[in-house]
Amino acid sequence: MKKILFVSSEAVPFIKTGGLADVTGSLPKYFNHKKYDVRVILPKYACMEEQFKQQLEPVTEFYVELGWRKQYAGILKAKADGIQYYFVDNEFYFAGSRPYGEIYQDVEKFAFFSKAVLDALENIGFLPDIIHCHDWQTGLIPVFLEKVYKKRDPYKQIRTIFSIHNIRFQGRWKLPEVKDVTGLPEDVFTAEGIESYGESNYLKGGIVYSDAVTTVSKSYAMEIMTQQGGEGLDGVLRRYGFKLFGIVNGIDYEAFNPQTDAYIPFHYTAKNVLAQKKKNKQKLQEASNLPKSGDTFLIGMVSRMSFQKGFDLIACMMEEFLAKEQVQVVVLGTGEERYEQMFCYFAEKYPDKISVKIGYSEQDAHLIYAGADAFLMPSLFEPCGLSQLIAMRYGTAPIVRETGGLKDTVEPYNKFTQEGTGFSFANFDAKEMTEILYSAMDLYNTQKRNWNDLLIRGMNQDFSWSGSVEEYEKLYENVCRI
Ligand code: ADP
Ligand code: GLC
Repeated sequence: MKKILFVSSEAVPFIKTGGLADVTGSLPKYFNHKKYDVRVILPKYACMEEQFKQQLEPVTEFYVELGWRKQYAGILKAKADGIQYYFVDNEFYFAGSRPYGEIYQDVEKFAFFSKAVLDALENIGFLPDIIHCHDWQTGLIPVFLEKVYKKRDPYKQIRTIFSIHNIRFQGRWKLPEVKDVTGLPEDVFTAEGIESYGESNYLKGGIVYSDAVTTVSKSYAMEIMTQQGGEGLDGVLRRYGFKLFGIVNGIDYEAFNPQTDAYIPFHYTAKNVLAQKKKNKQKLQEASNLPKSGDTFLIGMVSRMSFQKGFDLIACMMEEFLAKEQVQVVVLGTGEERYEQMFCYFAEKYPDKISVKIGYSEQDAHLIYAGADAFLMPSLFEPCGLSQLIAMRYGTAPIVRETGGLKDTVEPYNKFTQEGTGFSFANFDAKEMTEILYSAMDLYNTQKRNWNDLLIRGMNQDFSWSGSVEEYEKLYENVCRI
């Protein structure tokens, strides 16, 4: 039995700000549990919901040496869906109303978390064969392991995998301060180590010092090795390209299942999708205060409101789109103020056409996936994207830009061969997007049969974890042989 420890700054059901939590909270369930004992360790944030905090049982406590200081760390545990979770407690670092704060706080917070995780291993009696780290917040784990912990016996055999979910966020901060906080040796803070453009860079640490690096789609793995997509780390990634692998995300087929989803009023499969979706659409229109109309083309959006998601394109065409007859838009999301305001402006101007909810809600999100006709996701960049996968699973046609995982998972509609599962455009260009949007709308309005077949093809795709889990298992085997 191989022991694997996922280290992440978020995981469902405990704490989520984006798709990272969906991945680290679902992928562990799908490994072959006869061969892999996969556990997860997270920070215990003060902002976690009370119901989860109450489930936690204390395991142990100790002090972590962080530079010249000693900081308290408590370890707690809980089970969710059969998976063992551990939590690192420190009320100073993990206070606040959100998991992430200002970068200068976060670099220290996650240096502490990384060291506490490594110290915890001996204390909790789970010495993993592989530590599987996720995103920059865990980038120092391979560094500490290589430079400090491997000197100690039980740590010598541990291998590390570092998964990049978004290269945009790297955990960059001033060299002297990170030196002071971490107490790592001088040679770590060089161009061969975690130094990058005169700063220390946690994500680079994860890339350089881990045994293998993965990212969440094959296209994104290629893109981050280019100057355009590498966010300054393309050179490093090309150098370490020999250990970089793209493994596409799946979604949790139990949580996202239109046949059983407790959040949606009318359940369905590919066999009765049309009639049932129509009823869900009515509920969505009702809940969104939009006129109930089965024939109106309804576009849904559920998203972090970040420039990553292509809202600048939407800003360019919304006015023109909403002036059309028979269109509706339902938006759910929160994030950058400029985008929230843009949507609120349109909602005020066209109350019969667009409904906007600023906030986070599983319930509302699921109803949008189930009730909308199409799902718009014109991202500037998208490492994988889960929303388009959920949309297809719920028989909602994705309209996406061909980037990263969107390109790998949505097959564009071909009107000649009647193939494809959605609609896509290549350039980050509002006119191109609008044309594709109109062609989707035209298919919906004039060729119902072809439209329906497209939805069913999307529903019949396999976006579960089963294929990708095999790729991870293979990688685990290979990494253990190093
Ligand atoms: P990212 O991680 O970049 O935000 P993904 O598409 O990988 O994008 O994952 C986003 C996840 O978060 C999806 O499960 C999506 O449904 C969910 N989500 C995003 N915004 C909201 C929201 N406002 N309310 C509920 N769920 C949301
Ligand atoms: C990041 C990416 C998103 C990806 C998710 C999970 O948040 O932005 O594309 O799906 O991580 O890997």
